[in-house]
Amino acid sequence: MKSPRRKLGLSDLELSPVGLGCWQFSKGSNTIGKYWDTVEDNEMQEIVKKSLEGGINWFDTAEIYGKGASERGLAFALDNLEVTFDEAKIATKWWPALRKASNILHSIEARKDALNQRPIELYQIHQPFSFSSIDKQMEAMSKLMRDGHIKNIGISNFSEKAMRKAHASLQNYGSPLISNQMKYSLLDRRIESNGFLKTAKELDIAVIAYSPLEQGLLTGKFHDNPEIIKGSSGPRKWMNKFKENGLQKTAPLIKVLQKYAEKYGVSVSQVVLNWMIYYHGENMFVIPGASKVKQAEDNAGAMSFKLSEEELEDISEASWRVQLY
Ligand SMILES: NC(=O)c1ccc[n+]([C@@H]2O[C@H](COP(=O)([O-])OP(=O)(O)OC[C@H]3O[C@@H](n4cnc5c(N)ncnc54)[C@H](OP(=O)(O)O)[C@@H]3O)[C@@H](O)[C@H]2O)c1
Repeated sequence: MKSPRRKLGLSDLELSPVGLGCWQFSKGSNTIGKYWDTVEDNEMQEIVKKSLEGGINWFDTAEIYGKGASERGLAFALDNLEVTFDEAKIATKWWPALRKASNILHSIEARKDALNQRPIELYQIHQPFSFSSIDKQMEAMSKLMRDGHIKNIGISNFSEKAMRKAHASLQNYGSPLISNQMKYSLLDRRIESNGFLKTAKELDIAVIAYSPLEQGLLTGKFHDNPEIIKGSSGPRKWMNKFKENGLQKTAPLIKVLQKYAEKYGVSVSQVVLNWMIYYHGENMFVIPGASKVKQAEDNAGAMSFKLSEEELEDISEASWRVQLY
């Protein structure tokens, strides 16, 4: 099966429904970067290579992922692999904490340097908590776009209300709002019940789902071997969902996923990601992170088959019974 492509919202970008999340490339450089084990340069390059070979054509990174370490690591890997700008599109994010909208303009050269002048196809406001109003932030983003620093504008973690505000502001400045990156997985379907997803569809705003594997929980590996969480470096080992009770609660869903994994000869992670990209149609993108090469291969492979409508519904029903939030 040829790797699928879909348009990201109202942009001209033709992206694979599965992208690669690059938080794992933070090199442990700051508090947020310490969440994951350090991925060395050679492994990072191999993760990028296998993702591209598997049909992925875009990468999500951010300024806050190791204070630019992830952006630099990604660009370094792409340069070493001699990947063209067209073969690998980059989405990155501005970090708003304790900053005003003017910083969006002041910090853009640093972002471009970190990416070694690779084009910023999508520039996202990482969180809705800047000191400036949404309107001021959108005005700055729109200027970056007009001045040719970025190609498209996105947001992340903006509620339905905040997303409507951002959308309306950008309309006034003559630029479309392309996407909103939100937490979404089979164990966290809040965006379906709080009006967010409906509004995103209404406004033609693409949804980029982060933590689609619920940070590894939905791969089934912790259900198979609960001990392995103890060896992880970040805070996951203290979270209830990775402890015995959480694993017991979510086990019935893993069982259903395993049934389809066996049927198609794929992994549980691939069934999860396949559900994510086909259950809601063309508006949904996923960006699983990978800290190992085989995970990147596995995740890209989620685009190589298609669950039937009946199977998508069966998984959906099983998931509603075990929601974590
Ligand atoms: N906008 C935001 O606020 C925001 C927030 C969070 C994340 N994100 C973005 O979303 C991306 C993904 O989210 P995430 O990293 O939080 O969660 P995720 O993609 O659900 O989980 C990633 C982790 O799951 C495990 N994993 C991945 N693929 C696997 C496979 N095929 N088999 C076994 N294990 C596998 C790995 O854990 P181990 O490392 O333990 O092996 C990996 O580090 C990030 O990289 C980042 O780009 C954005």
